[in-house]
Amino acid sequence: MTAQGWIDNIRDHKKILFIQLRQPGKCPEHLQLVFHGEVLKKFRPVLTNQACIKVFGVMIDSDKSPTAGVEMHVNDMILYGKGSDEFRSELNIESDAHTLMSKRHMLHWTSQVSSTVRECTLLKDRLERTISTMYHNYGFVKVSPPTIVDVETEGGASLFNVKYYDTDRYLTQSSQLYLESVLPGYGNVWCLESSYRAEKSSTPRHLAEFKHLEAELSFVTLAELITHVEKVVTTLLESMSINVPSFKQITYTDAIRQLNELDFKTPHGKAYTTGDDLNDSAELRLLAHYDCPVFVTHFPSELKAFYMKRSVEYAGLTDSFDLLLPGVGETVGGSMRMTDYDELMDAFTKNDIDPSPYKWYTDTRVYGSCPHGGYGIGLERLIKAALYMKDTPIAHVRDVCLFPLYYS
Ligand code: 4AD
Repeated sequence: MTAQGWIDNIRDHKKILFIQLRQPGKCPEHLQLVFHGEVLKKFRPVLTNQACIKVFGVMIDSDKSPTAGVEMHVNDMILYGKGSDEFRSELNIESDAHTLMSKRHMLHWTSQVSSTVRECTLLKDRLERTISTMYHNYGFVKVSPPTIVDVETEGGASLFNVKYYDTDRYLTQSSQLYLESVLPGYGNVWCLESSYRAEKSSTPRHLAEFKHLEAELSFVTLAELITHVEKVVTTLLESMSINVPSFKQITYTDAIRQLNELDFKTPHGKAYTTGDDLNDSAELRLLAHYDCPVFVTHFPSELKAFYMKRSVEYAGLTDSFDLLLPGVGETVGGSMRMTDYDELMDAFTKNDIDPSPYKWYTDTRVYGSCPHGGYGIGLERLIKAALYMKDTPIAHVRDVCLFPLYYS
């Protein structure tokens, strides 16, 4: 028999040496190797942490083996790539946050130091498969919008500038406008791309680059859109083995009233009034109060992006919503979109945005403008909320990223 992989752990009993071989993608994923006698003498110097090896030997059933009741007694070996026992002194369960971040690539290799990064990566892999199947079953078409763009969507303050040859471009803040631009051709569309925000926010839920799951639906009302989002989020949370409670729905105005009833103050120590943004701690207070996921709807237009449809019911408010999830706060943001060309042009002017680079977007209001709405889900935030709901909380959304980019 042969096996190949990486040395994850070594127990040295002098005359006999037990190795835990990591063979990702194989079953068992960890295999106990036993070295003794001549083969141990020959290879002992190179049997070090994270060495990559191929072993030849005899597979034996063993109750004592920690790896699936079998172990391999090795009689020969090839060293592919040497390791180093310094690995464990450089990186161990006592390593500080800076060390863990600077050696982050190594955390993907082994669960011996911390399993969080690996578990989150594997969870994300499974989640992305669920997402594809779910939208496919709904009849949505997946599209791949660009991420280096020449327009802003969510306000100039959080734009990252990039030089594209001799022109100025940006890293996309959201693919929404691209989804809207192709909607008339495909009905309902979705995408999963990176979005970027130059937000100087060093909080447990802010990243400069995050995975943005976005969808745009034609011919929906705000109520239908919210029902759809509840179904999507429930499906995704259930796929991560969470018992999902019923969602609560309140308006922004209710939220302000509720925060005052709870005597919860703004960061400046004042009572909340209409026009105040709901920051992380206000959202977490509302979640603690309702003890379930909460949709907050109808935000004032000055708090939201230019493209949001103005509410007919409530003057000065938008047909918008945020979904707050436990352990995170805002995880989904969505709205109905303005459909009237002149109203949209007016919104560009009010927000001091030059509409000329947006022709591919504004043309949808010239040719067959349709009632539509959509939403964006921050995937890292969704996973952080899921782990919180599973009683295995993580400290930061950066734990969910392969190589996180964030402001510190
Ligand atoms: O509420 P946001 O800004 O909405 C949009 O970008 C819309 N254009 C989406 C759409 O309607 N297609 O962002 C949506 C979600 C947030 O609720 C949050 O989960 C995530 O994106 N998000 C971030 N995640 C991590 N770090 C950041 N800096 C984030 N900014 C937004």
